[in-house]
Amino acid sequence: MINDLNDIVNRVVKETRPSLGQGRVANYIPALGAIDPRKFGIAIFPLNEPPVVYGNADEPFSIQSISKVFTLTLALEAYGADLWAYVGREPSGTPFNSIVQLEQEAGLPRNPFINAGAIAVTATLLKQQTVSVFLDHLVTFVQQIADDETISIDQVVARSEAETGNRNRSLAAFMASFNNLAAPVEDALNAYFNQCALAMSCRQLARAGLFLANKGLDPISGRRLISPERCRRMNALMLTCGHYDGSGEFAFRVGLPGKSGVGGGILAIAPGHASIAVWSPGLNERGNSLAGTVALERLAKRTGWSVFSQG
Ligand code: DON
Repeated sequence: MINDLNDIVNRVVKETRPSLGQGRVANYIPALGAIDPRKFGIAIFPLNEPPVVYGNADEPFSIQSISKVFTLTLALEAYGADLWAYVGREPSGTPFNSIVQLEQEAGLPRNPFINAGAIAVTATLLKQQTVSVFLDHLVTFVQQIADDETISIDQVVARSEAETGNRNRSLAAFMASFNNLAAPVEDALNAYFNQCALAMSCRQLARAGLFLANKGLDPISGRRLISPERCRRMNALMLTCGHYDGSGEFAFRVGLPGKSGVGGGILAIAPGHASIAVWSPGLNERGNSLAGTVALERLAKRTGWSVFSQG
């Protein structure tokens, strides 16, 4: 199997090469704008085999919205079904930073992966802890599930987003005006900007996602992180909402639960098979990695790992 997977990755890389450098690097967060758009890395952690990595798979990048998977995990563990009082579970069909639905839907964000929903989720985690305790807890959690104590928050990126984050400031203030923010606006934003600035490599990210491919149990440490039922539901949310208004297209082309970030990373889960992280900073018009999506599309096709594959 492992030789097969190495062969598959080599083919996937070859097929992805023409797409490298296409798309646009996110520059609305100035610190992200200077990244070389031709960077490309992929890491695959199969459940019972050694990982396969290629390219810039050990270079840390800004995980941005992929952090929303980790905060959702923590918030569901803390609040269970009560969390759904603060955030919905429907695809939005709107861009990640859209404000339009919030007014129509009385300040309740559609899902935990659009910016408004993620800020609302993070705010719940500040009900019983300060921002700095929350961030320590989050970094420790991610270090544990990635099995790597070197993971940290890139302070330059966090500051850069704080300085330019007026859209997120608007979303948070708007939710607060409907009494749907569990923490003060500035605390929620401070926590959110820092979580988005977590820097991780493809190898660290794929390792961290392994529990989502294995019914909530980390197959390497043997630690249960979430129940099988919660794992199934998180995968459902990633599939339906993880790529914003590009979620349908990602399901159509790749067919895996996935979460993208404007740093160009995508964490994709092949339930029962593997956790995969890909990084290429050039984004498509929906703000999702262009070459990363191509690579995952090819990988899913060659492995048969799409959740919609039938035999
Ligand atoms: O809030 C923002 O705009 C960024 N920190 C994260 C956005 C993001 O990653 C959207 N993903 N594709």
